[in-house]
Amino acid sequence: MKNQLVDNFGRSIEYVRLSVTDQCDLRCFYCMPKGFKDFETPEHWLTFDEIERVIRAFGELGTRRVRLTGGEPLVRKQLPELAERLSALPGIEDLSLSTNAVRLAKHAQALKTGGVSRINVSLDTLKPERFKEITSGKLEKVIDGLMAAKAAGLSPIKINMVVMKGVNDDEVEDMVEFCIEHGFTLRFIETMPVGDTGRNASDQYVDLQTVKARLQQRFDLVPGVMPGGGPARYCQVAGTDVKIGFITPISQHFCETCNRVRLSVDGTLYMCLGQEHNFELRPLLRAGISDEELKDAIRHAITLKPHKHEFKEKPDQVIRFMSMTGG
Ligand code: 5AD
Ligand code: SF4
Repeated sequence: MKNQLVDNFGRSIEYVRLSVTDQCDLRCFYCMPKGFKDFETPEHWLTFDEIERVIRAFGELGTRRVRLTGGEPLVRKQLPELAERLSALPGIEDLSLSTNAVRLAKHAQALKTGGVSRINVSLDTLKPERFKEITSGKLEKVIDGLMAAKAAGLSPIKINMVVMKGVNDDEVEDMVEFCIEHGFTLRFIETMPVGDTGRNASDQYVDLQTVKARLQQRFDLVPGVMPGGGPARYCQVAGTDVKIGFITPISQHFCETCNRVRLSVDGTLYMCLGQEHNFELRPLLRAGISDEELKDAIRHAITLKPHKHEFKEKPDQVIRFMSMTGG
């Protein structure tokens, strides 16, 4: 099916990042404040039926990829059932999951059976004490989750590491070794000023060009490619299958190739991670609009997509926390 979603800047939108909950069982300091409780009320969560309807409409408009995200998506009950429903929709070829892996050991197999093919796992450190400081959680569970995912045949498994000065930047080499050992893909991410938490953490910002230069002293890095529609630029450790990606929203803009929108748990479409432009679908869904009207609404929403984020020029812009849209 031809992609019908093209924004005002000529970008084809074929990817929806679907936040199934704004709650999380961790509290990464750069994402959500410690005592935070101001979550969306359950009456405002899109139901599985509503989510399926919206994603079906996107599929009919040419969307190929859907990523389940949060908050922490596995906090939402019956997630594998939703996965099964979404992966069966016409046009949806690629269903993936972003998770902190705390609950993954229990659900990895069911997710795979439900049609999730590949996963991204947030992991900033391999040191249990440090993991606790960064996330308030237990590293052991994440490692168990990763191993269960591997055993269930989810592939590729990508580790996302937010690199922060004086927090975990001494571990980039160890993380490469860990990924070589287990056959995981590794992606480094620059800290983004999303919400007050993200802005505070921007003091620890590390330009990933410096990380790459450092890794080159220890590893033989050659150019690499990775299938997928994302913004990471990859290289490969020579003599291994391991790919290392650099996601550089701050040091190197990649907005001109942006192909995605984000749907939050309350049914709001966010057009950009770094802007507040949005369009609320829930009121329309609950007012009983037709499938055609839903597709028109989505087409209209896409015209609101801004040209680029302004993390550098206007770092105070994004009020919501990262946990609302899942990165
Ligand atoms: N800057 C960069 N990445 C962030 N994440 C959460 N908050 C931030 C931030 N302020 C990352 C998480 C996870 C993904 C969902 O987003 O570490 O990998
Ligand atoms: Fe939870 Fe992910 Fe935010 Fe950490 S970064 S608090 S795991 S949503």
